[in-house]
Amino acid sequence: MKIDVLLGLQWGDEGKGKIVDVLTPKYDIIARFQGGPNAGHTLEFNNIKHVLHTIPSGIFHEDKINIIGNGVVIDPVILKKEILAAEKIGAKLKKNLYISKKAQLIMPTHRLLDKAYEEFKGEKKIGSTLKGIGPAYTDKTARLALRIGDIFADNFIEKYNCTKSHHEKIFVGYNFTETNTDYEKEWFEAIEFLKDFRFIDSEKYINDSLFKKRSILAEGAQGALLDIDFGSYPFVTSSNTTTSGVCTGLGVSPHKVGHVLGICKAYCTRVGSGPFPTELHNEDGQTLRDNGHEYGSTTGRPRRCGWLDMVALKYSIMLNGVTKLIITKADVLSGFETIKVAVGYKVNGEVIDYVPYELTDDIEPVYEELPGWNVDITNCKKPEDLPVELRNYIKYLEVQTGVKVKYLSVGPDRTQTIKMR
Ligand code: GDP
Ligand code: IMO
Ligand code: MG
Repeated sequence: MKIDVLLGLQWGDEGKGKIVDVLTPKYDIIARFQGGPNAGHTLEFNNIKHVLHTIPSGIFHEDKINIIGNGVVIDPVILKKEILAAEKIGAKLKKNLYISKKAQLIMPTHRLLDKAYEEFKGEKKIGSTLKGIGPAYTDKTARLALRIGDIFADNFIEKYNCTKSHHEKIFVGYNFTETNTDYEKEWFEAIEFLKDFRFIDSEKYINDSLFKKRSILAEGAQGALLDIDFGSYPFVTSSNTTTSGVCTGLGVSPHKVGHVLGICKAYCTRVGSGPFPTELHNEDGQTLRDNGHEYGSTTGRPRRCGWLDMVALKYSIMLNGVTKLIITKADVLSGFETIKVAVGYKVNGEVIDYVPYELTDDIEPVYEELPGWNVDITNCKKPEDLPVELRNYIKYLEVQTGVKVKYLSVGPDRTQTIKMR
């Protein structure tokens, strides 16, 4: 058995949570492989709207195992809140949530470091979610971090204080004096709370499961254009958000990766700083934001909106080896007379059709225009129900990318999903 992967092809918030929830009935196990509570994955079903940050999006399906993999960074305070909120609406976390012992801990001081670094960067700040993601992954690489399996060790506090003292030295250098004693208290309480949950050697569990022919879906966080190696560096997150992250973040060999389901919006959004060639600063951008309710699931910040960027999308498909496409938020485009798609970038007077070394703000997109549609598609159930202009838009995407569209999402609810083939 091979592990399928679902991941974002843009700058995050493509609708991964919704689609993982829709696809969960097809799988036995759902596993997050990277990122942490910088993610905000929204699910809507039975008039409930729920946002997950660390817990995989299969958690509301009975008898499905949800794994937080070794590649994830965990803030115990946030995870505890998530567990309590999910339990309130019926999820069985003690039974269905497994946590890799090798997942890394985000310490209270990691959050402060995030803040100190962003303040120091001033105008050049990344627009981090300030959840401590970058500093936690930095410590992982620096071999200073605590893994969640350490919470059971006799010398846990000693290890904690040792890493904290490294952070305190950095704060002196940055002249950063803020402390968060209350958060630290909450953090240790949350650690105690989590001890009742199930901690596993997830790489063994996952490989054994594949051997026993149990089906697994790996759930990505963020998106390819935020990847630490291939995203719009330095305006990226601190993990590999692309398919390669599944191998290191869950401990599976590349031979065992099956389908790669790439998800993208029918247009583009970005939250935080960094280049965004097709960003719209006009009324059309505001219409996308209003119609798509484009406000961050984690921070509430307004998302920047723009037309679909085919140049970047092809790049993401190449990096991830996408075998099937999922297009979301097609309903948000209803009402536009024409829809634009960037098929090239004008850089220094020359048109290129690939993502250059540096995505700068002065890149001018070269657009193709397609006819729009002006009907409500949120109740459409099958491809034949869709307006011909939308079907042509989908065909256009398939021809341009060379990948077939498997699902089309026409609204935030579980039920508003059309199987295209
Ligand atoms: P994720 O981080 O990729 O899981 O995406 P988010 O949950 O951060 O953001 C996607 C937002 O769009 C959420 O509010 C979803 O409820 C919503 N959404 C998902 N699919 C659709 C869709 O097809 N149409 C509309 N209108 N909203 C959608
Ligand atoms: P999901 O999984 C959208 C962005 C932040 C910032 C940059 C670095 O919901 O798609 P970090 O907190 O990692 O230091 O932030 O990455 N970012 C996201 N944008 N969706 C996300 O996750 C994101 N996670 C991080 O806004 O620009
Ligand atoms: Mg999100």
